[in-house]
Amino acid sequence: MNKNRRDFIKASALGGAALVAGAAAGTEDAAAAPGKQKPLDILILGGTGFIGPHMVREALRRGHSVTLFNRGRTNSGLFPDLETIKGNRDAGLDGLKGRRWDAVVDNSGYVPRHVQDSARLLSANTAFYLFISTISTYASFATANDEDSPLAMLDDESIEEVTGETYGALKVLCEKRAREEIGEDRLAILRPTYVCGPGDHTDRFSYWPVRVTQGGEMLWPGDASNPIQIIDARDLANFTVDCVEQRITGIYNTVTPVGSYTMGHLLEDSQAVGATMVDPVWVDEAFVERAQQEYSGPRWGLFPIWHPSSGDNAAVSSVSGARARAAGLRNRPVRETVRDLLSWWRTLPDLRTATMQAGMSADLEAELIALWKTERA
Ligand SMILES: NC(=O)c1ccc[n+]([C@@H]2O[C@H](COP(=O)([O-])OP(=O)(O)OC[C@H]3O[C@@H](n4cnc5c(N)ncnc54)[C@H](OP(=O)(O)O)[C@@H]3O)[C@@H](O)[C@H]2O)c1
Repeated sequence: MNKNRRDFIKASALGGAALVAGAAAGTEDAAAAPGKQKPLDILILGGTGFIGPHMVREALRRGHSVTLFNRGRTNSGLFPDLETIKGNRDAGLDGLKGRRWDAVVDNSGYVPRHVQDSARLLSANTAFYLFISTISTYASFATANDEDSPLAMLDDESIEEVTGETYGALKVLCEKRAREEIGEDRLAILRPTYVCGPGDHTDRFSYWPVRVTQGGEMLWPGDASNPIQIIDARDLANFTVDCVEQRITGIYNTVTPVGSYTMGHLLEDSQAVGATMVDPVWVDEAFVERAQQEYSGPRWGLFPIWHPSSGDNAAVSSVSGARARAAGLRNRPVRETVRDLLSWWRTLPDLRTATMQAGMSADLEAELIALWKTERA
């Protein structure tokens, strides 16, 4: 049986670990006017995965200095001109001792102890700490969330194993540890939804536009009006650097505006950008549910990014990003994300593009379309 929702973390209990309610954007010691920003020394914990490189490039583009901290396992040759401090978040932070940075971007914290250790070590040696969290911190997606919604909890807070079930609640504890060590007046917490764009190794968003380029009959879940929410990795990177420059503190969901984008829009944009039309076969939610239960798919599921309009995940795509937008987050048109994603996809080796991490194989898609049509005949 395919656990298709493994890409989205379900947490069971409501939240005693609730975050400080309504931590608002503070701009204490705010940045100078645009163009007058003083160059900053920024440490990025991580920096070489998917989202990290976009942050690195944006910070460099704005004239800042960037130091990376990682184990040297992921894309280690990506930034040969930058200083990389080699180490491990798990008890291997020695290389960070005695160094100072204007700001730290923690983009690789999944385990509360790791976030606590780095935040504790760096607290006296940095003016600002930004933690990349996730919308999976929310306790429930049966109804819409904003930053003040109840948060997921772990029954046993000593758990460190990151799984589909623990990811969100562990991130809640990571946020908490960062707050304890750094304090709210120097801390920003960003909670992205599905991060998309060039470099995405999950293929959750990419599956749809890439599949459209192949043309023919194409299976689509639910109906064209079903909403989806994403965040382009470049928009997240821009907002991250904005927060660092302007010392924007508080908690922010980083998502596209609620209701602004649907599966139908994704189909339309993918066809326009890929210059290929498909013959869409929209199947109802009960059929999707059955397909998810009866057929296994790749790691990130058969119908990535999409969620049914009722039940436990009905409001995954209804997370408010109003607070981040008021603080400066700008979402580019999703069509641009589709365009740049496809350009990037075409540069990848065949071995990579042949093994999609999300979505349906051609054979399974044909089988499901045939089944759908037979049942309707
Ligand atoms: N992708 C999404 O849709 C999504 C959505 C919401 C939130 N997020 C959040 O976004 C953040 C980053 O995502 P990403 O996709 O860029 O991550 P990623 O691809 O996993 O990159 C992780 C980076 O951290 C380093 N790293 C990993 N483990 C380490 C360790 N033990 N010690 C030191 N460095 C370590 C890696 O380098 P080495 O391997 O060389 O150490 C790499 O530079 C995460 O906090 C995630 O929760 C992602």
